[in-house]
Formats: sequence, structure tokens, C-alpha cells
Amino acid sequence: MGDAFQKPEIKAARKRTKERPMIRDYVFDPRYLDLGKGRKYLIQTHGCQANEADTEHIEGILDQAGFISTQVVEEADLILVNTCAVRENAENKVFGEIGRLKQYTYNNPDLIIGICGCMSQEEVVVEKLMRVHPHVKLILGTHNFDRILDYIHKIDQSHKRVIEVFSTEGDIIERLPTQRKSHVKAWVNIMYGCDEFCTYCIVPYTRGKERSRPFDAIISEVETLIQMGYQEITLLGQNVNAYGLDLPEKGISFAFLLETLRQMPIPRIRFTTSHPKDFSREIVQVLGKGGNLMPAIHLPVQSGSDAILKRMNRKYTKDSYLRLVQDIYAHIPSVSLTTDIIVGFPGETEADFSETLDLVRQARFEGAYTFIYSPRSGTPAALFPDDILYEVKKERLYTLNHLVNEGFLRGNQRFVHHNVDVLVEGRSKSNQDKFTGYTPHNKLVNFASDQDIIGKIIPVQIIEAKTWSLIGVVDHESN
Ligand code: SAH
Ligand code: SF4
Ligand code: F3S
Repeated sequence: MGDAFQKPEIKAARKRTKERPMIRDYVFDPRYLDLGKGRKYLIQTHGCQANEADTEHIEGILDQAGFISTQVVEEADLILVNTCAVRENAENKVFGEIGRLKQYTYNNPDLIIGICGCMSQEEVVVEKLMRVHPHVKLILGTHNFDRILDYIHKIDQSHKRVIEVFSTEGDIIERLPTQRKSHVKAWVNIMYGCDEFCTYCIVPYTRGKERSRPFDAIISEVETLIQMGYQEITLLGQNVNAYGLDLPEKGISFAFLLETLRQMPIPRIRFTTSHPKDFSREIVQVLGKGGNLMPAIHLPVQSGSDAILKRMNRKYTKDSYLRLVQDIYAHIPSVSLTTDIIVGFPGETEADFSETLDLVRQARFEGAYTFIYSPRSGTPAALFPDDILYEVKKERLYTLNHLVNEGFLRGNQRFVHHNVDVLVEGRSKSNQDKFTGYTPHNKLVNFASDQDIIGKIIPVQIIEAKTWSLIGVVDHESN
């Protein structure tokens, strides 16, 4: 029997239908109860929170089948690399890693090396993996990780490679087992996919069309997390502001979801990521009510030039973005705003770049992820003539980062001599008496304590601001 591979196709991934996805519960197949007996797994996760959340589900599924997690590569019988396709350097890192993993198959011929995540969804990547890396035994995509046990079983039986990637999104799967990494804060997916098609971006092709999870399923997941003692949830989606727009029920929106969650006994709620064009007045108003809705908003702008924004298909202008920012400051005066910016988009002139710098100053960002544009095969921008020298791109990135870092520091400095609530996440790796955690404004705080306070929210006095973090002291007498 020949190998039957199902490979991704970018053309199919571009298509959008009006159909609602099926919603079904994950069902564990009892045949696989012992599939992982005596076997250990290791998952390396690259990319964004969507991948981190997927990894937690894959680990939950593997745990159910008796696999045991390990951090030691030499011990692993299954190594999965959950990949990111958003920029070329992210992909190169993964290809390097895959090459290095080959050596472990020499001592353990039964070792299964698998690739999942967004790179698996790319036609060009799968072709290259098949050609150059035959030691990769398993390739599965973002729409079918729930079938991982079937694939491992198939490899056990046939000793052949399994490649199965669906280009069109599958069902919305509820009740997926989840092995959460943290006992303090949790991811909650509220929607999958993306319909924005920003011209530079691969995500709409790797994650399929926008699909909102049913409202009740989200609420019941949050209720469970509250019962388990979680202190913070982060709502996940590529464009959370579009939540509910595709649901058949009327009146379910992101603002309504936030309003509902605001009244639930979870101390902290965050969300990522917001698209400016769908950030409605209602959302701003609900956030203005504060409470457990944290005053930190990540609002990717990408560029400050109208001409570039248009070619990026972002559907807003510098002015409309800044008006939104003003509205947010008016309703949440202390808010900490962060953003994503791309430099060196095809055709970006010095004047375009100056507009970006000007916007960064006006918006008073307290942090930004900044990137050099990276052409992605299959996206419209990959065909735009790219006439900017790499040296120029690097220089722009350097200039931008300098400005952004001033904002980082300024954002931290405003908390010096203040008492802030810190959700304590863990101990510092280098010093067991040092703890780390985050403030409501999402500022990282390091401080010393002789008590075990992990998972608690405690007041900390800030004594010093660095660019990337705050130093605090905790007064246990007053707690
Ligand atoms: N859905 C989210 C995140 C998408 S990826 C959002 O819209 O904000 C995260 C960031 O990567 C983007 O905001 C963008 O700044 C950057 N990015 C995406 N594609 C890129 C590309 N081809 N080259 C460089 N940066 C890119
Ligand atoms: Fe990519 Fe744009 Fe969708 Fe974000 S909103 S994932 S940048 S296409
Ligand atoms: Fe990367 Fe996929 Fe996230 S491309 S940024 S892991 S959605």
C-alpha cells in the first residue's frame, strides 16, 4: 500500500464559506487507553498564544492516553514541534531545530518526530519537510490536532510517515482535555481563525475562517476555571473584537461577553488580540467600568502611514486609530496601551516611516512588538515589489525600537512609589527568595518574600523602574 498523504493547499485555505461550523464534543477513544504506556512526550511550542493553548490541549489528549511528559529530549519517544509561520526567521528557527532533532532517532529508532501548528498548514513548508527531512514521521495541522492519537496509532502499525493537513477549517471542538501549564492564569479561546486578510499575513490561511465559540461554552469554561482557583483568564482570538458576529444568535458581541464576565468572580480578565477597526464604542464603555477588566490593551497598529495601512488592508487610518486611542484614554485614563508595528513594508518611504514614529509618540504606547516585514508565500503582499534595502529596514527598526523603549520605561516609571496589586506567578529561576508577577497594567514585578505566595494577589510597593520590569518590596506585616 502506498502512502496516502493529505497535504495543505493555499488556494483552498483562502476560500471562505457562509456555513456555520459543526460544534461537537471531543470523545476519547478507549482503544487508546494504553497507547502511551511507557512512552514519554515533549512538545516545543513556538508562536503566539493560539499555539500555546493548542499545546495544552494536545498534552491533555496525550495524558489521557497514558503518555508522560518530559523535558529531557533524550528520554522522549514523541517529540512534537508546534510551529509558527508568521515570519521567515520563525520558520528558519524551526527548520534548524528539526535538523538537530534527527540525531535522537539514531539511539531511538521508534522515536516519532512530529510537526504541528501553522507551518504544517503551508504548502511550501510541507513540500520541503517531505523532501529534506524524512526523519519527520508525522505532520498534522491546526484543524486536526484532536486526531493525534489516531495518527500515532497509525505510525505504530505501519512504521510509515503520516501526513494529514486540512486546508479548510474543521469543527469547533468542545470539551477538549487540557493540561494547563499554569495554575494561576489560563487561556480561554473565544474564537478561532481570521477573516481579515491583512495583505502581509499568513494567519488567515493557517487558521481558517473566523469561528466564534458558543457563548455558553465560554462561560462554562470560565466557571470551571473559577472553581479550580484560577486568578486570571486571557480571552484568545486573532481579532477578539469580532467575537459573536458570525453567531446565529442576535446580540452576542465581544462587549456583551466582557459585560457578562465582568460580573463573574474571576479577579482578572485580559484579552488578545484586538483589531482597531472592530473596537466598538460599546467595548470601550464596558472596559471603562474596570473591576476585573484589566487596564492593559494590546492594539496592533502596524503602521502610521495611511498609504501603507491601505496596502496592508487594515481598514483604518492614522487619524481614526488615534481617535480610538483618545476614546480609550478618556474612558480608562490609566490604561497601558501596547501595539505591534511592521517596518519595511513594500514601498514604505521615509515619509511613511515618519508617520509611524509620529503615531507612536501621539499614542503614548508603553510597549510594542516590532518586526521587519517578512514576505509570506501565498499572501498578496508577497507579490508587491520590495524595493527597500535590508540595511534601511534594519535602521528603521533600530530607530523605532529606541522610541518604543522610551515608552516602556515611561510606562514603568509611573508606578514608582506606588502600591500595586501583583498576581504572583512564580519564583525567579536564579534566586529562590525572589518572586515574579504582573500588575493589572501587565507590568512585570520582581520582589523578595520569605513566604509562599504563588497564586495570590498581593500589594507590592514599587521602588525602582527598569525598562522591562519593576522592582518592588512586600510588607508582610501589613498584609
Ligand atoms: N491577529 C493578531 C496577531 C497576528 S500575528 C493581530 O492582528 O494583531 C502578530 C504580529 O505579527 C502582527 O500584529 C504583525 O505585526 C506581525 N506580522 C504578521 N505578519 C507579518 C509579516 N509577514 N512580516 C512581519 N510581521 C508580521
Ligand atoms: Fe493577520 Fe490581520 Fe488576521 Fe491579525 S487581523 S491575524 S494581522 S490577517
Ligand atoms: Fe504564528 Fe500561527 Fe500564531 S502563524 S503567530 S502561531 S496563529
